[in-house]
Amino acid sequence: MSQPLEFFAGGGNVGALMRTHNWSSSPLGPPESWPQSLRAVVSLLLQSRFPMFVAWGKDLGFLYNDSYAEILGAKHPRALGSRFYDIWSEIWADISPLIDAAMAGQATYREDLPLLMNRKGYDEQTWFTFSYSPVRDESGQVVGMFCACTETTQKVLALRGLRELNETLERRVEEAVAEQMDHQEKLRTAEAALRQAQKMESLGQLTGGVAHDFNNLLAVFASGVQLLERTAKAATAPPPRVFEAMRRAISRGTGLTRHLLAFSRRRPVNPESIDIVAHLQGMRAMLDGSLGGNIEVQMNLGEGVWPIEVDTGELELAVLNLCLNARDAMPDGGVITINVENVETHSGDSEAAEYVKISVADTGQGMTPEVKARVFEPFFTTKDVGKGSGLGLPQVYGFAQQSSGQVTLDSAVGIGTIVTLTLPRSLHEPVAQPAEGELPAKVATARRGHVLLVEDDREVAALSRELLVSLGFVVTHVAGPDAALGALANSRQIDMVFSDIMMPGGVSGLQLAREIRRRYPNLPVLLTTGYVEAAADMEDGEFDVLPKPFTLEALAEALGIDLIQDVR
Ligand SMILES: Nc1ncnc2c1ncn2[C@@H]1O[C@H](COP(=O)(O)OP(=O)(O)OP(=O)(O)O)[C@@H](O)[C@H]1O
Ligand SMILES: [Mg+2]
Repeated sequence: MSQPLEFFAGGGNVGALMRTHNWSSSPLGPPESWPQSLRAVVSLLLQSRFPMFVAWGKDLGFLYNDSYAEILGAKHPRALGSRFYDIWSEIWADISPLIDAAMAGQATYREDLPLLMNRKGYDEQTWFTFSYSPVRDESGQVVGMFCACTETTQKVLALRGLRELNETLERRVEEAVAEQMDHQEKLRTAEAALRQAQKMESLGQLTGGVAHDFNNLLAVFASGVQLLERTAKAATAPPPRVFEAMRRAISRGTGLTRHLLAFSRRRPVNPESIDIVAHLQGMRAMLDGSLGGNIEVQMNLGEGVWPIEVDTGELELAVLNLCLNARDAMPDGGVITINVENVETHSGDSEAAEYVKISVADTGQGMTPEVKARVFEPFFTTKDVGKGSGLGLPQVYGFAQQSSGQVTLDSAVGIGTIVTLTLPRSLHEPVAQPAEGELPAKVATARRGHVLLVEDDREVAALSRELLVSLGFVVTHVAGPDAALGALANSRQIDMVFSDIMMPGGVSGLQLAREIRRRYPNLPVLLTTGYVEAAADMEDGEFDVLPKPFTLEALAEALGIDLIQDVR
């Protein structure tokens, strides 16, 4: 052959290398001996810039171009002319089936085939896209295999990174969206709570105002009826049942205003530290009596329950209201369970808060969510006219508020309802319970004398005067603080002051009482009010306060008069 190695022409670095290569140890033998078919393939691949190799003969002697040399890494140039197996032993298991196929005459193609190579002195995860094609000699027999390949490691890694990034991003976005949703959710809940609180507040103001006026009217009625009863003993007086009906109407009205005022927190309250367990035990007979035969009350009263600071009248009313609701929810009878226990709550790293939990549970008809959302509104009732006034739960709500506690409600239709009062632990010793039926301790007979009555409402003043007179007092009435101080300065005979706390003008009854005490330290002062705010500035036990409306008995008791002894 004249130019035997012409097929190396234009073969780049590898082509040049081939010209000078020592082929003695190669299964391919010297290029001069290569058959035309091999020369054609070598010429083709050497002139391509696409990575290519050819594996030839029984031993698969290996020849490649410049681009493939880069793929070989440190295996080049030792790989030139070597056996395919010796070059790529580490990936042989992966590629030998494909080589066998090619050598059996079947072309193959693989995309992104993962291969764990060792071409730079360390194991390396790589990916390749390639085709193996059989090469035939003139007789048509397969004598070698040809490969065009491209390394896709960078692409695969980039795609994988991108996918991971995508997933991370998606997850982050999902998390962020979820968090954001939560945050809105929270905002909406907070808004709803605020709106509810504002609604309750304005309802409270409204009902408080109405109840206050109504209360004054009742005070007039109540005192009037009592006076009539006491004085009209003549035959011409109305029959006793008229008085009886009037008194019942008054007592119902008084009950309603009491609920309203409790809800609006405008009733004077008398908080004291009590043993709730003993108190509930004391209520048992009253509850059994008012709930009817087919209702059983079960009390689970915990051991060592802490004292709470409450107005006992309001507490009893709240428990009674809850039990009456439970009874109404179980028309065919059932069990009411009253549970009392201590609870400690830990919020954040602040100190543990200590509460007493009082719950009243029934197995009655339960409430729909719509009903549940409105039950603390005054006048909301699902009961028939005359059966419910919708003031029970508002009273319970007001009681919880005035006791610095909370009321919560769980209910499911057809399953039952549980209302829970959570009241703060009192740090004071509980006061002793007066045994049932015992007379009030305050029975000392006061010296009847001269009372200075301070009251701006003409009608209330007139009735109070009558009540005081009927108890044997001489009464001087003044309409305001200035007149009161004037009367005291002028008269040496006044033995006691009986004053309303709410006054028109700047000075309150409380300020008046303090001024009187400063000027005349030994002069007894009794205050009265229908408004809790009015007594709010007062220090504990500073003055005796008689809540309005008051009965003759209550007034007598506040003045230290024992009516029972009086009658004898
Ligand atoms: N234990 C309960 N089970 C089912 N529904 C209840 C229960 N307690 C209260 N309710 C519902 O809440 C409404 C309001 O109760 P609330 O005690 O304030 O008023 P009332 O019982 O209707 O009337 P009042 O208590 O003034 O006689 C009731 O009409 C009833 O629909
Ligand atoms: Mg009720």
